[in-house]
Amino acid sequence: MALHVHTDDHDHINSDPGPMYQMEWVQKLIRQIQHCLQTNSAWLGIDQSKRQRVLDYACGNGTVSSALLAVFPEAVFQGMDIATSQVQRFNNEATKLLGESHGRMFAIQGDLNYPQPVLSEPEWSEFDAAIISMALHHVKDPVGFLARLRQRVKQDGALVVVDWLQQSSTTDGSHAAERRGGDHKYDAADMAKLSQGPKIWPGFSIHDIHADMTAAGCTDVDVREYPEPIDAPEQMLGYDRIFIAKATVL
Ligand SMILES: C[S@@+](CC[C@H](N)C(=O)[O-])C[C@H]1O[C@@H](n2cnc3c(N)ncnc32)[C@H](O)[C@@H]1O
Repeated sequence: MALHVHTDDHDHINSDPGPMYQMEWVQKLIRQIQHCLQTNSAWLGIDQSKRQRVLDYACGNGTVSSALLAVFPEAVFQGMDIATSQVQRFNNEATKLLGESHGRMFAIQGDLNYPQPVLSEPEWSEFDAAIISMALHHVKDPVGFLARLRQRVKQDGALVVVDWLQQSSTTDGSHAAERRGGDHKYDAADMAKLSQGPKIWPGFSIHDIHADMTAAGCTDVDVREYPEPIDAPEQMLGYDRIFIAKATVL
């Protein structure tokens, strides 16, 4: 297994974003993400009538899985997060919502960039869908990471991304791509350090996420902007919108 060097610029096994979750705007954002997922549930490409296996990647405290449990009553939600503290929150939330021994929502610590042996088990592959919410902006190589994530999904399954919409992006162009001379390469120098927490990408334009999911081995990419503004404070780089993107895995 590759050695994972931990720095405060990136999340790691001992990260604890707990205090973030106490903030009022974050609690509202979580409700907005859940509303976004629920109102778009029929569009996600996940079959509501079958027992679907859904990978909730970078699952945090369970925003995605807890929003979709009732919408997909046959589905099993398997969470994975780099931070042990978040895995504990997710599993506590599962017990709160479903009681003990339900088998419908559980998480383990893990990072697909440095997969531990348990991730070679069939339980962690051939998912019907994978959803990554508010975490793609944390990974150093978004396209390479999306490719690793989609490898966990079966052919014709769904890959779903929820994240910050890049400020001043439009439906037909990308601000960052323009700065990069129109190409589509991510330069780590464009990652921003928040006053609290790790370095992150300053969101994704609709154009970028479309190109990134396609480059990662998906087709039929479709992106929707969530209509409500987000009440993020000033130090959050002026973010005020999120998007939801879905694609079919080739
Ligand atoms: C802003 S939280 C989002 C949590 C949740 N998905 C949600 O929508 O509320 C970002 C999460 O990504 C996790 N994370 C960051 N880098 C990761 C990686 N390489 N692999 C797995 N999880 C990661 C963090 O520990 C954190 O729980």
